[in-house]
Amino acid sequence: MAKADALNSVVNLAKRRGLVFPSSEIYGGFRSTWDYGPVGVLLKRNVKEAWWRTMVQLRDDMVGLDAAILMAPKVWEASGHIATFTDPLVDCKSCNERFRADQLPASGACPNCGAKGSFTEARQFNLMFKTFVGPVEDDASVAYLRPETAQGIFVNFKNVQTTMRRKPPFGIAQIGKSFRNEITPGNFTYRTREFEQMEMEYFVPPGEGERWFEYWCNERFRWYTEYGIPESMLRLRPHDPEELSHYSAGTADVEFQYPWGWGELEGIANRTDYDLTQHAKFSGEDLTYYDQESGTHYVPHVIEPAAGADRATLAFLLAAYDEDEVRGEKRTVLRLDKRLAPYKAAVLPLSRNEKLSPTARDVATMLRPHFQIDYDDASSIGKRYRRQDEVGTPFCVTVDFDSLDDNAVTVRERDTMEQDRVPIPDLVAYLRERLASS
Ligand code: GAP
Repeated sequence: MAKADALNSVVNLAKRRGLVFPSSEIYGGFRSTWDYGPVGVLLKRNVKEAWWRTMVQLRDDMVGLDAAILMAPKVWEASGHIATFTDPLVDCKSCNERFRADQLPASGACPNCGAKGSFTEARQFNLMFKTFVGPVEDDASVAYLRPETAQGIFVNFKNVQTTMRRKPPFGIAQIGKSFRNEITPGNFTYRTREFEQMEMEYFVPPGEGERWFEYWCNERFRWYTEYGIPESMLRLRPHDPEELSHYSAGTADVEFQYPWGWGELEGIANRTDYDLTQHAKFSGEDLTYYDQESGTHYVPHVIEPAAGADRATLAFLLAAYDEDEVRGEKRTVLRLDKRLAPYKAAVLPLSRNEKLSPTARDVATMLRPHFQIDYDDASSIGKRYRRQDEVGTPFCVTVDFDSLDDNAVTVRERDTMEQDRVPIPDLVAYLRERLASS
């Protein structure tokens, strides 16, 4: 498929199958915002769950956190976001549209009206959403929606380290919404103004930053491949010195080959002791770690793998999207890793029938405590298989007239379309085993 079509195909599929809807659609949509539908919410939850499992559950050097979105405004002074979290903006004097100065075409023509050389001087535009806390809208009540989840981790460093009795190296992981007033949102859910991040701050003794930076670059690259993105669609790109954020001594992006080209999926940064030092200065709190072995205090250095739940979900969708042919007909199939698939199985009575439906419903009831399943008895069995293929359901469980006699069902696998006859009492164990194998 042509690359340009790949995004359209996924956007259409997402709408058609309840993965992602344009936000506020009945009002004509709202500026590049998107809502995850009944199927999409399952997929995105599985992506977040997979991240949490790898980053927290399977490790002995990690704890979790769920910090508030609204934080003391001083946090953003200390972090540098008020001073430097900006993009350069220009206005077209002819049509009044705004653009990022660093993204204008080389021709100097306005991308909207085509007028040449009619831009204002570039001004710095802060990307943080500003709001007011409480009933009075004055300077004293200004607050910001967090533009990254990271700062919630830094300001809780002491609380977490002391209550959980942690010694560097250890990490604090968090998943949550962040907000940025992006000037050029777009490419579906790739760049939006409200998005979810999956961030981890890994606190290490000074001098160990480089080693852990390398370690986390490799780990995070590996994670995407483990969950099904081919290596050929991924690359690790170190930032040039002039690209580095104000806090970073080194950053590498895990990039994905989106239909429009290579783009960031996750950033891994060596933030040094910048954040804890800044928060110690602005808050007056001692944020050093006391190392009993050496009898010294030090400010831990931080390695940060910062991923986006929406971008990861989009990348998994794009990588999984496939079209093949079954008996002369085009089939669209999402070849998602089974752990990410929204539904693990779908129960399908061969036809909507007063004999088959009760048995099929009993099978569904039996499976529900074990797996997220779908039940579908509308339209022909062929169409229902196609619907499940389109949302990546690994197994379709068909209840037919023989089931009433042999108490067994036919299980069809998504990728090979091979079928097995499985006794109903063995079905949970059968699915569990096949879902666990790759
Ligand atoms: N704490 C570091 C930090 O926030 P970042 O590279 O700006 O670093 C990390 O963001 C990740 O968050 C990105 O790699 C991307 O996956 C996601 N992200 C950032 N801005 C986004 C946006 N406007 N829309 C969707 N995802 C975004």
